[in-house]
Amino acid sequence: MFQFPGPFVFSASVENHAAIKEWLLPKITEKVRKDEGKTLNLRDKKFSEVVSSYGKNSQYLPELTDPSFLGQAIWCPMDQMFDENPSLRRPSRSQIGNAWFNYFEKSDWHGPHVHHFSSFSAIYLLHLEEKNPTVFCNQWALSSSQYDYHYTTEHLSEGSVIIFPSDLMHYVPPTNSHKRVTLSFNITSTYELG
Ligand SMILES: [Fe+2]
Repeated sequence: MFQFPGPFVFSASVENHAAIKEWLLPKITEKVRKDEGKTLNLRDKKFSEVVSSYGKNSQYLPELTDPSFLGQAIWCPMDQMFDENPSLRRPSRSQIGNAWFNYFEKSDWHGPHVHHFSSFSAIYLLHLEEKNPTVFCNQWALSSSQYDYHYTTEHLSEGSVIIFPSDLMHYVPPTNSHKRVTLSFNITSTYELG
């Protein structure tokens, strides 16, 4: 029987997390406080209920494009992912397609979704006050065993970054804490032919 390489969820700790959080979290909190929901994305309650900067251009929070920050939060963990898993084909080039923050308050949630138009996606757990609620599910699993193919990430602590193929479905059930802040990234990768 032939089996295609499957979807995966990789996680690693971001070096220097404490300093990154100290640098970034006040800026995000200030954006949310000043905005008061006027321009930030409070998306359709059918799909999510969370304050997000999804869709803002990179000038809105230029820190998310800072090369040193991206090196620590994304590129080092991604290198680690390919180093530790030789069955994953290493791209010749990867770049950030877009980056945004998600600011969850108590009972906020994000329904099942995938990230379109990118290769890999990453979630950086910048501020957690509870076990991380993100759940991944394999939408290609046999329907009779779908329930067995959910992967919870409760064991991951603040300062972790999670990397996964962008078309892997995931969701965030209603949060129990008063504040949960994550950063999301879409990563576009290209591969050498041959
Ligand atoms: Fe997502």
